[in-house]
Amino acid sequence: MTNRLQIGDVCVPGRVLMAPMTGVTDLPFRLLASRLGAAYVATEMVAARELARARPDVVRRAAVGEGLPLTVIQLVGRDPAAMAEGARMAEAAGADIVDLNFGCPAKEVTGAAAGSALMRTPDLARRIMEAAVGATTRPVTVKMRLGWDDDSRNAAELARSAEAIGVKAVTVHGRTRKQFYTGQADWGAVAEVKAAVAVPVIVNGDIVTADQAREALDRSGADGLMLGRGVYGRPWLAAHLERALIDGVAMEEPGPQARLAIVLEHLRASVAFYGLPLGLRMFRKHLGWYVEQAPGRPIRNTAVKPRQEFAGSRRRRPSRRLWRSFGDQIWRGSTTPLLKPGHDLWTVPLHDGYASSFGRLARSRVGR
Ligand SMILES: Cc1cc2nc3c(=O)[nH]c(=O)nc-3n(C[C@H](O)[C@H](O)[C@H](O)COP(=O)(O)O)c2cc1C
Repeated sequence: MTNRLQIGDVCVPGRVLMAPMTGVTDLPFRLLASRLGAAYVATEMVAARELARARPDVVRRAAVGEGLPLTVIQLVGRDPAAMAEGARMAEAAGADIVDLNFGCPAKEVTGAAAGSALMRTPDLARRIMEAAVGATTRPVTVKMRLGWDDDSRNAAELARSAEAIGVKAVTVHGRTRKQFYTGQADWGAVAEVKAAVAVPVIVNGDIVTADQAREALDRSGADGLMLGRGVYGRPWLAAHLERALIDGVAMEEPGPQARLAIVLEHLRASVAFYGLPLGLRMFRKHLGWYVEQAPGRPIRNTAVKPRQEFAGSRRRRPSRRLWRSFGDQIWRGSTTPLLKPGHDLWTVPLHDGYASSFGRLARSRVGR
């Protein structure tokens, strides 16, 4: 098995992809993960209709950056014309791949007959795919679930239609919509989709470790796999698992100092992208995940403890203290020491590309 995926005319240099995740895979995260070796990181889902209306927060979700080796913009919606317009805008903004969301289980999305609700309306799903494929020269892909519920598992059938329409790859989260995120992702069930189509199939759901990555690929027969929640606090995970699939040996994860540099880079990028107040707010959850994933034993109690608690304790290592005080500063909003010019935070190199990302999308609208 090769360690690359051919999606239409795009060669993805890896088989471990990073999933679109709303509130997580914003531009700072995508740039960071890409720099750390991820071959493919998708945007958060972007509401096609709102993108066409240039709603600022929606445009921001689709922001692209110069440092991204591959740009994958995911669209969500139920109106074929709006999805076609979204696909055109995504291409004009520099998307290499346009992904369609047929898997989101959230009530606000399915209530609007979009996301995984489209698996219940396959005719509409087909019209959306036709509209998107007809509107862009870029490869269009689809991300779906196994079906709406156990009585209507139609992923293989929908994938077959997708392929006939010209969709170039299909990702399947091994759960039904009814399951939301409960139970265990069924990687074996994705084998049915793999058997139904010749385009690449990507298996998704509950993949975090190298063993799970191998097992998911074995059981599904899929060409690649997609990581979701496993990347929380570990933006290097795709590269880590990619290496494990190639060499059979898991790559060593960054140590405390390297992680701290990654955290600072992420924080700084978040502030640069959103501005100070929103940048900090967006970064908070990432910080929580970085702290959770920090080397050492799990924190038993997140309440701030008196200093003596740490003295001579084997349970809390110095690196933990470093992380805790760093985290505490941000949670309490006392960021001034971190943001002083000349402080470490400012010496972490900032990626290029922020200034241009909004501009490119804006131009794509104007130039249409
Ligand atoms: C916070 C969060 C946001 C998500 N946002 C999206 C999204 O915007 N588009 C999408 O197709 N899937 C979205 N998903 C689903 C993931 O892409 C993925 O399919 C799912 O989490 C299963 O993979 P995992 O078990 O590895 O997390 C989201 C999931 C989470 C937890």
